[in-house]
This record gives sequence, C-alpha cells and structure tokens, in this order.
Amino acid sequence: MRMIDLIEKKREGQSLTEGEINYMIEQYTNDQIPDYQMAAMLMAIYFQDMSNEERVYLTKAMVSSGEEIDLSAIDGIKVDKHSTGGVGDSTTLILAPLVASVGVPVAKMSGRGLGHTGGTLDKLESIPGFNVELDSSTFINLVNKNKVSVIGQSGHLTPADQKLYALRDVTATVNSIPLIASSIMSKKIASGADAIVLDVKTGSGAFMKELEDAKVLAQAMVDIGNGAGRKTIALISDMNQPLGYAVGNALEIKEAIATLKGEGPDDLTELCLALGSQMVYLANQAESIDQAREKLLATIENGEAIGRLKIFIESQGGDPRIVDQPEQLPIATYQIEVKSTKAGYISEIAADQIGVAASMLGAGRTTKDSDVDLAVGVVLRKKVSDYVNEQDTLAVIHSNQTEVATVIEKILHAFQIQDQEVTPKPLIYQTIS
Ligand code: URA
Repeated sequence: MRMIDLIEKKREGQSLTEGEINYMIEQYTNDQIPDYQMAAMLMAIYFQDMSNEERVYLTKAMVSSGEEIDLSAIDGIKVDKHSTGGVGDSTTLILAPLVASVGVPVAKMSGRGLGHTGGTLDKLESIPGFNVELDSSTFINLVNKNKVSVIGQSGHLTPADQKLYALRDVTATVNSIPLIASSIMSKKIASGADAIVLDVKTGSGAFMKELEDAKVLAQAMVDIGNGAGRKTIALISDMNQPLGYAVGNALEIKEAIATLKGEGPDDLTELCLALGSQMVYLANQAESIDQAREKLLATIENGEAIGRLKIFIESQGGDPRIVDQPEQLPIATYQIEVKSTKAGYISEIAADQIGVAASMLGAGRTTKDSDVDLAVGVVLRKKVSDYVNEQDTLAVIHSNQTEVATVIEKILHAFQIQDQEVTPKPLIYQTIS
C-alpha cells in the first residue's frame, strides 16, 4: 500500500477502507509516513469529508495506536461523560459523586487543559491534599469500594491523535467534523467506558459557536460511539453565558459543593440533573430518564450526594472538612466588585470574555507547563435577563494582584445591557441519540 494512492483516493472523494485507514494510522504513528503526506491527507479529508464507516475506522485505529484502559475489573456498567468545553463548567466535579451516590460506577480520567481555567484535575487539586496521581489498581479498587475515583489521564492514550492534533494545528485542519469527532471519541473509547454521555456546548463560549454546527458535531460523535459499540448520547447545551456563577478553580469547587447540597445555581443544577439522568439510565440504574432524575434529586435532598463527595475527597487524600468549611479552600487576597455603568436588562454575558478575564488573573494556563493560581477567578452576581441599576455589582474579581483595570474592562465588555426585557435562551437545546 502507498500513502500517495490513499491521498489521491480521498482527494477524489472516494471512501477509504478499514485496511487502508489502519495502515495509514499505524504507519504515521510509527513515523513511517511523513508529516507532509499526512498533512495532504488531512486537507483532503477537510474538503471531502468521511463516511460514517470511515469515521468509525479512523477512531478505532487511533484507539489501537496506544494504551487502552481495561475497566473490566470494575463491577457494573461504566459510563463516562465528556464536555466539549465551556466556561465555569464544573459539571464533572458534581456529576462524579452525584451519580456514584445512586450506584453508577464513575472511573474517570480527566485532564488539566489549556483553557481559561484549569481542567478538572486542577480544580480537584485546590482541595488540600487531594491526589490525582493514583496507580491503576488503587483507582479500580476505589471505584469498586466507593463507586467513584478521578485520576489524571494516562499519557499513553491515543498517540496517533496526539500527533495528528499537533499537525492539524499548523495546517488549518482543526476545524473538520470527522477529525474533531474522531479525535474526541478516540480518547473516550480508549479510556474504557461502556457508555458515553456527551455535553456538546454551543454559543459564544463554546468551540461550536452556532447551534447547527453543534448538532452536526454531536451527531457525528454519537454515530462514532455507537458504531464502535459504546452506547452514546449527546445533549446540546447553551454556552452563551458562563455556566453557574463561578469561573476559577477553587471558586468552582465551592459552587460544586453548594450544588451537591441543593443550594447551587439553577442552570448548573439543571444541567447536572439532565446529564446525570442520562448516565444513570445508560448504567441501567433506572427504568426511565424521569426515574433517574427522581433518584438524583432524592440523593441531593437526603444528603447522600454530598456525603459521597466527602468519601471521594477523603479516599484520595483530600481534606473532607472543606465540604462544611469551604473557606478552607484557597482564597484570593483581594475581592474587587465590577459595577454596571448603565441600567437595563442583561442580554448577553460573553462567556469567552469572562473566561479570558479569569485567565488574565492567573486561573488558567498559557503554556502546557505554566502554573495555575487556584484561588483566583470571577464570580458573576448577575445572569442573562436580570435587570440591573447603574452601579449594581455585575461580578466580583477574586485576585492576588491589585492592578486589575484591564480585567474590569474585559468584564464590562462581556456584559451587554439593553432597555428591553430579555428572554433567556434554553439551557438544553436537544438530545441526540
Ligand atoms: N478537542 C479534541 O480533543 N480534539 C479536537 O479535534 C478538537 C477538540
């Protein structure tokens, strides 16, 4: 087989066979196909697309390029959840103990990320003592015992995707549905879950700004998951404003604690219940989505969900007292209020801009190796459709530096305020299965 023939085939819009895709991915991972030929192939895929079958073959080939996590020693159906990334998204921190408290095993591998705030691992590390570097037998034992454990993602998963992603980044081929969908799904499948619930975000703070694009990506990922033998469903959720109020690592942990106690923001609570119900249903722990939701609500109300968070924290070396004393979490030195310069109804809070503001304070990473300030971030006081008077507080900056003029400016720019009343957008647009 010759790579040049495969490039030509794809350039002409023909489908590649499973054998051809396996050859291409294997040889490329082993440095037997040069970057310039793979770059040409990526561009051909970008323009000619791939059939559903080709997407499944590509995903499976990327899974086989590296380590595949074996979760078979964990009892029950393992359901993973993946979000395509948003601002203020602490759903994993809430969902892991929440669904575990109704008997769904959560064996989650998470990343640190290069986003506006740290990833789930950074957020968990703002809990004093919390250890995310467990060996695999400890990880599996904890899930069997407590139904929940979250650790760092193995660096050996999907090396083909790591190499391809870096090449896509410099060849203007990131933004391709078959390439994005296979990239995300290969990592989920290699992580070993039996079923997958996807939260595909749309809006100003999301990778997919337009609803129609989010639907296409969601369907592509669902088709790949199901085609690869993992039951997969996706919710499309709104990211036209940050989720919840808090954007920052320890600040989001605090909000997650409140949500598990039934005192969290409405949108964050609702999204967790919607995603969690799908997870519980896919894990066969409920006969319907409605019954799954009832079960989750009951564990929040009777304290089992927050109790499970304490067990989860303690089992990974963290200090469970932060659950009742969140003031033990890292706290920034300065809290600075951002005041509205006009009166009216809030029509938009550009989530990406709030994310950038949090990142400017040090909440996120600018390079792979840079440090994250766990204490800092932004806490909104208002959400879309709220009415504000001039000088009302829109948000509070949590900072370890006094010079925050540009951060204030960024936050004020993110808020759009108008005279007419505003109808908020739906939180969940669609379920795709
Ligand atoms: N996230 C991924 O993991 N891969 C992509 O291609 C895009 C976003």
